[in-house]
Amino acid sequence: MASKLTPRIFRSAFRPACIASKPACRSFTASTKKGSDALQVHRDTPENNAKIPFKFTAQNNKLIDEILKRYPPQYKKAAVMPILDLGQRQHGFTSLSVMNEVARILEMPPMRVYEVATFYTMYNRTPVGKYHLQVCTTTPCQLGGCGSDKIVQTIKDHLGIKQGETTKDNLFTFVEVECLGACVNAPMVQINDDYYEDLTPESTVALLTALQESSKSVGGIEGGKGALTGNDKNVKSGADVGKTSGRIYEKDGVKMPSPGPMSGRKTCENLKGLTNLTSEMWGPEVFRKDL
Ligand code: FES
Repeated sequence: MASKLTPRIFRSAFRPACIASKPACRSFTASTKKGSDALQVHRDTPENNAKIPFKFTAQNNKLIDEILKRYPPQYKKAAVMPILDLGQRQHGFTSLSVMNEVARILEMPPMRVYEVATFYTMYNRTPVGKYHLQVCTTTPCQLGGCGSDKIVQTIKDHLGIKQGETTKDNLFTFVEVECLGACVNAPMVQINDDYYEDLTPESTVALLTALQESSKSVGGIEGGKGALTGNDKNVKSGADVGKTSGRIYEKDGVKMPSPGPMSGRKTCENLKGLTNLTSEMWGPEVFRKDL
């Protein structure tokens, strides 16, 4: 309507003035810029620099051959994630030498490997303790059960470390993480490759104590060398470890809580048992009186 009422020549005279008054560029967002707390810049340290040699073991080289068979030869760089993981398991963390060796094997520019390793939080780019405690603090874990805040506080109090720190004996590293996909059994913690769920402050202390005892019994503490419990199959049930009512298993003579819910649940069933559909199931005799 305005364009019909205003003469064209009058509108054109004002157009350059309107354009000139607008700022040349504008920002995409008005929110405050916040940097990640993760180290994204490599700084040489005595335990992490390019001069430290790294080679895969013969056994891992066989695994690498198996992994590479999954991809067409011209796309072998697609195997970067599993091979980085293998390197981390062998070396204890994803050091610069590990990344460089992966780049050499996959014939990729090292920068492409660094990009992957710095993007995914599962790659630890600094050494971690033998037990890497990753406590989920996303909303369902904050609200479920006793709440992850209490679990975080219990760990801090018991181990005397803060988020992102490693104990002096190099046994535990503790970090807070986002959802690990076990919300139904909240609150939970991932320890190396295993999930411990339905935690309470008491069961958390029992779990940490059992891990400390286990390390003493086997002697020696090395930096994170992969799963704590992956090969232990001798799971038993019916006995308690401290205040833990979940299943237990024995590792080197020490009773350990087995991974999974520590509340006595098998998976995510109702802890109170069946609350509906409790009547006897109907069979064909209900409908077929002639039988
Ligand atoms: S919110 Fe904790 S596992 Fe999903």
